[in-house]
Amino acid sequence: ARTVPVIAIDGPSASGKGTVAARVAAALGWHCLDSGSLYRIVALAGMRAGVALDDEAALAALAAALPASFADGRVLLDGVDVSAEIRSEACSVGASKVAVLPAVRAALLDRQRDYRAAPGLVAEGRDIGSVIFPDATLKIFLTASAESRAQRRYKQLMEKGMAANMESLLQDLQERDARDAARPVAPLKQLPDAVLLDTTTMDVEQAVSFVLERVPADR
Ligand code: CDP
Ligand code: CDP
Repeated sequence: ARTVPVIAIDGPSASGKGTVAARVAAALGWHCLDSGSLYRIVALAGMRAGVALDDEAALAALAAALPASFADGRVLLDGVDVSAEIRSEACSVGASKVAVLPAVRAALLDRQRDYRAAPGLVAEGRDIGSVIFPDATLKIFLTASAESRAQRRYKQLMEKGMAANMESLLQDLQERDARDAARPVAPLKQLPDAVLLDTTTMDVEQAVSFVLERVPADR
């Protein structure tokens, strides 16, 4: 039997991975995985339980038995909607801290692979093409300049009525990118077999078309 096709979209913070992945998945009628939300939920669950964000064993145990679910674009932790809370800067920074821990990443591996189901999957994150689905049908490295990414994140937070400061957003984003790229386990990097998509001067529509045009017809 032919394997279920996967589109892997990896890239730095606020490059548009979530937005583009969701639109591509909707256009194809495929499933969608926002892998970053898993790391965000582990960070939130850890902070709530009073676990230090470098306590690998405790966080891996939390990750392995994460009482999280996804429904209608909402994220539930213990049945409570935490969709807005996991997008806070505290959870963004927390996610990139728990994400350096190999045992946490290992605990989330099968959970991510389970999303591969017919007719196809669009998955986004940092290590989708390198670790989670190295045999992906199409690999995209989605990026944009740090300034435009910070502006996008700022606009996004404003629209949600959340507090934001442009200067600290840009700084957090650059620190997080550096941590994601420098870590020994599953670092963010453009793979030799990934197609570069730099959206610094592109809108969402153009980015979505770019990906759809590259989905192999015979998959
Ligand atoms: O998932 P990731 O953090 O990479 O980015 P996102 O949450 O999808 O946020 C990207 C934001 O930038 C969204 O508000 C998009 O509407 C906007 N945007 C984009 O995604 N792509 C562009 N080419 C231009 C703007
Ligand atoms: O939306 P944004 O791109 O800012 O972040 P995200 O994709 O929700 O991921 C939050 C953090 O989780 C990242 O800074 C990474 O440290 C981590 N992450 C990861 O290590 N591997 C993934 N596949 C996805 C996220």
